[in-house]
Formats: sequence, C-alpha cells, structure tokens
Amino acid sequence: MPNPFTLRFIPPRSPFCNRTQELRELSSHASNRTNVVLFSPRRYGKTSLVKQVQAGLEKDGFFTFYTDFFMVTSVNDIAGRIAKNVYSALHRHESLLKKGTRYLKTFKTFRPVFKPAPHNGFALTVEPVSTELSGIDLLDKVLEELGVFIHSESAGAHIVFDEFQEITELKKSPVEGVLRKHIQEHQASYFFVGSRRRILLDIFNQRNRPFYQSAIMYPLSPLPNDELTSFLVGQFKKGGKKCSKSTAEAISNKILQYPYYAQALAYNVYEVSGKVVNEDAIEIGFEKLLASERYGYEATVQGLTGSQITLLRALATDPDSKILSTEYMARHKLSVGGIQYAQRKLEELDLIEKHNNVWRVVDPVFACWLAEY
Ligand SMILES: Nc1ncnc2c1ncn2[C@@H]1O[C@H](COP(=O)(O)OP(=O)(O)OP(=O)(O)O)[C@@H](O)[C@H]1O
Ligand SMILES: [Mg+2]
Repeated sequence: MPNPFTLRFIPPRSPFCNRTQELRELSSHASNRTNVVLFSPRRYGKTSLVKQVQAGLEKDGFFTFYTDFFMVTSVNDIAGRIAKNVYSALHRHESLLKKGTRYLKTFKTFRPVFKPAPHNGFALTVEPVSTELSGIDLLDKVLEELGVFIHSESAGAHIVFDEFQEITELKKSPVEGVLRKHIQEHQASYFFVGSRRRILLDIFNQRNRPFYQSAIMYPLSPLPNDELTSFLVGQFKKGGKKCSKSTAEAISNKILQYPYYAQALAYNVYEVSGKVVNEDAIEIGFEKLLASERYGYEATVQGLTGSQITLLRALATDPDSKILSTEYMARHKLSVGGIQYAQRKLEELDLIEKHNNVWRVVDPVFACWLAEY
C-alpha cells in the first residue's frame, strides 16, 4: 500500500486534519467581504487551508482568485501574476476559448496566451497588450479592471494573496498604496497570507502604512493534540498499519503538533515500520527526517552572519525571556555589538519568536538540528 502521509500542500478533498473551526470562520469572513491576514510560521497549512476555503466558496458560486507573491521581482511581475491568475480562474469557470470570451471585454491590459503544454493540452500565460504601460501604472490598470469585473458580476469574489509580505522586497515602490487604493473599493474579500510574521504584520499594524488596520488578524495555531493523534491513527490504518493511540500521541508530541512535521515524521515512521507501529520507529523515523531536512537547514544557516548563527544556536538550547541581558550574552559568548541587529534580523526571517514572553527558535525540528550539529 502507498504511504498515506504527504509532504506536499494538501489539495481540497484530500485527508486533512481538523481545522473545522478555522474553515467555518474563514469562510464566513469571506462571505461577509471582510479582509483577513492569515499568518503562522512556515508549513502550518495556510495554503492548504485557503485552498479549501476557496473550494467551498466556488461551490457556492463565488469567483475565487489565488496569487502567490513568492519571490516577486518587480511591480510588472506582480501585475502579470495577478492578471494570469484572474484569467486562470475565469477559464476554470467558463473556457476562455469558448463561452468565456465575454470576460475578455473587461480585461484589456493583458491578453491571455495559450501555449501547447507537453502533458495537459494548453498552458495559460499572459502578455501585456501594449508596452506603453508598465510598473505601477500597469498594476493600477489591472486592479481597476478586476474591480470593474467584480462589480459587474452578481456572484461574490474572493481573492488570496499568498506570501503577501514579499511585496516589501520591492524597496521604495508605492505598491502598497496602489493595492490598498483599489482593494478598499472592491466588493470582495481579500485574504493576505504569509509566514514572515513580523514583516506581514507591520504592513497592517503600522500607523503610517496604507494597509493600517484594514483587515482582521487571524493567527493559525499548531494542530490540536487530540485531533492530530486520531488523524495519525486513521492515516496509518488507511495505509494498512496499526498505530495505537499512545504511539500516535508520541509522534504528535515529538514535533509539538507542527502540521508539516506531523506528516513528515509519520511518513518516515511508516516507511520503517512493519504491520504494527512501535515507539522505536519514532526515533528511527526522526533521524531520517533530520537527515532529509538538513539540506534546507544548511541553506538557511548559510545565509546568516556569525552573530546571527550564535544567537540562533543559543536559543535552540536555551530559550529565554531576556536575551539582551548581560548574563545571557555572557553565557553564550554573544557580543553586545551585533546582538540587537541579529535578533531583529532573525525575527524578520521568522526564525525566532517571542512565545509566552520567552524567545525561542520557531521551528522545533530545526532547533533540534541546531542543538545537535
Ligand atoms: N490540517 C492539516 N492536516 C494534515 N496535514 C497538514 C495540515 N495542514 C498542513 N499540513 C501539512 O503541512 C504541509 C504544509 O502545508 P502548506 O503548504 O499548506 O503550509 P503553508 O503554511 O502554506 O506553508 P508555507 O509557509 O511554506 O507556505 C502540508 O504538506 C501538509 O503535509
Ligand atoms: Mg504556503
């Protein structure tokens, strides 16, 4: 039988643990045309969750648009991504090659281009219609057209901007102002999703920023222990292996109910187990998990300075409420000069966080790796 655990984003209608309250609340905000900032550390299931919300809204007749801002390189890039995803959503509703051509009357800035794709017929891309518009003017036009479209359709509209904080990488660009200007007029609900929490939250909570207090803050928590335990037992059963409740709970506790690691550890435990899953398999599975994750961890550490690494390592073994105190710095040989900057930078990268007033490494498995190597 195939391994029932997955390390990828979970498409709608696939096995999903819990999140029923979140689904209900988020769907309700979307129907009320409320804007939401959905945030959590990396790999908590934000994208999987918003895709589920959108699948439900589509069933109710909504138009749903999803754009990922990961590694955006320019304002033109943002405009192009939004236009492409608008066209893909419309094409899903009604083929743009057939009936859906009426939609094209509203959208004049980019044209859809269908290119032959090796496995799935045609791939949809977009091209600007004219070279006269670019940068912020291009984005302005695309958003204006989207607003006109939303206004002209009686069905509701829901828009997700995933990894939204990436817009701040475009330094000194008025992109926030232009987005805000249109979004506040659109008869739609926007979800702004992201995992670099400090940067994302600053967009919405700093007084002098265009998006100041324009959306509900919605943090996503780890999975509840009980639900995760039952989910793991059920998935092992689906894969033809018996895992007791207490063993499943040990898996859940080992990774502090962190959604991605729950799947990744269970995946490895499944691989090394016979018909019955026992607790020894958890340790072996965890070693395998560390071995496969270490490449990502190494890449993360490589991008850091010496004092950032020293602080990160210190927090991996010794979380503390007063990391700027002389005792803490002396204990970990941290230099006074670099520590404040290191702390700010690590927080911006969402590698460390203040949890219940104590500074710690956000990712518990990364913390184990830092402590061991
Ligand atoms: N409710 C859930 N039930 C089971 N597994 C989940 C759940 N939520 C997330 N996962 C696991 O976590 C992984 C990460 O999910 P997803 O990509 O949706 O998270 P994300 O928060 O968007 O991550 P990133 O911050 O990297 O964009 C998925 O591959 C899945 O294995
Ligand atoms: Mg995501």
